[in-house]
Amino acid sequence: MQFSTRAQRIEPFYVMEVAKAAQALAREVAHTDQPVIFLNIGEPDFTAPALVQEAAARAIGSGATQYTNALGLEPLREAISGWYASRFGVDVPARRIVVTAGASAALQLACLALIEAGDEILMPDPSYPCNRHFVSAAEGSAKLIPSGAAERFQLSAAQVQAHWGDKTRGVLLASPSNPTGTSIDPTELRRIHEVVKSKGGITIVDEIYLGLSYDDAFGQTALAMDDDIISINSFSKYFNMTGWRLGWMVVPDAMVPVVERLAQNLFICASTISQHAALACFAPESIAEFERRRAEFKARRDYFLPQLNRLGLSVPVMPDGAFYAWADCSQMAHKLCVAPGANCSWDFAHALLQQAHIAATPGRDFGTADTARHIRFSTANSMAQLQEAVARMERLLG
Ligand SMILES: Cc1ncc(COP(=O)(O)O)c(C=O)c1O
Repeated sequence: MQFSTRAQRIEPFYVMEVAKAAQALAREVAHTDQPVIFLNIGEPDFTAPALVQEAAARAIGSGATQYTNALGLEPLREAISGWYASRFGVDVPARRIVVTAGASAALQLACLALIEAGDEILMPDPSYPCNRHFVSAAEGSAKLIPSGAAERFQLSAAQVQAHWGDKTRGVLLASPSNPTGTSIDPTELRRIHEVVKSKGGITIVDEIYLGLSYDDAFGQTALAMDDDIISINSFSKYFNMTGWRLGWMVVPDAMVPVVERLAQNLFICASTISQHAALACFAPESIAEFERRRAEFKARRDYFLPQLNRLGLSVPVMPDGAFYAWADCSQMAHKLCVAPGANCSWDFAHALLQQAHIAATPGRDFGTADTARHIRFSTANSMAQLQEAVARMERLLG
């Protein structure tokens, strides 16, 4: 069977190999005194709160399960608009909100709507691997620009200016970022957007972790800057609904009919049950629960990050959001008999799994610049598990 070059361009998701190894080991050691601790998983360990679960059951029970409008249920678009007003003080009209099957579908729709074959999109290195694959599925290519601690692992306007070429169509960045949990400085984002606009390009900001922001200096939506910015968002992270496959994007008015046409044809609509359920996310009781969980995520970060630094797994920029720590393992690699070099974090992740039964994600998927030195820990796990992980690492690295 012959497969398309488009499909073959999509690189394997190496993270899954580590995850598979972790799961196999977890089965083996489940009943020992050292079961596997999963710090490799990029999703909340919480599930949807009670009101959301009840709303989903009601939708199923009452047969409210037909297709919806491709742009999403009107009351849900209104509720999301209300959330921008109450949480961020920003007026985002419901007519510009498109409800999608997760941020993933939103990214796919945005790329298909905007990218011509051969176009190039600038992204920071490291960044969320699927983002460059959404671009390549639309026959464009991602140009990864090495972004270090000084730039909070984000793009700078100077880099965007310097790397803009004939084929460049725009920028795509996630803020807060996966894998670093660091956000772009709002002033720098404004500068980047000015450069992009001056070139007639597009700025796409993946704000899927924005709800999980712990620092007011960074916790504002890019939509406050300009109606031309495309913002991607989701019910997966702050709202703890990964498997419900529901997200949204905010697009400029002119883009709505284009995205609607694509969404009608490619998806028909996002899950109707999930849309009805998500309406309950905005009830005061649910928001109070999400805020309690956000505080819990922050408490985990506040505990775990200093511990990593103390153990020599240095995290040069304190994450201001999400639930990730992007740690440099190169100084500690020898403690696990891992050699420095191109496979360092890959071997380190495997050694950590074998020797301490801790699953973490090596940098490989997230780019090429400095990823051999970095490993991503997810703090989307209980405080007790994080404490146990620290105790185990202390024995190995201390
Ligand atoms: C930065 C980023 N964007 C998008 C996604 C996709 O999320 P969703 O579950 O909404 O499709 C993820 C998932 O981990 C992510 O980390």
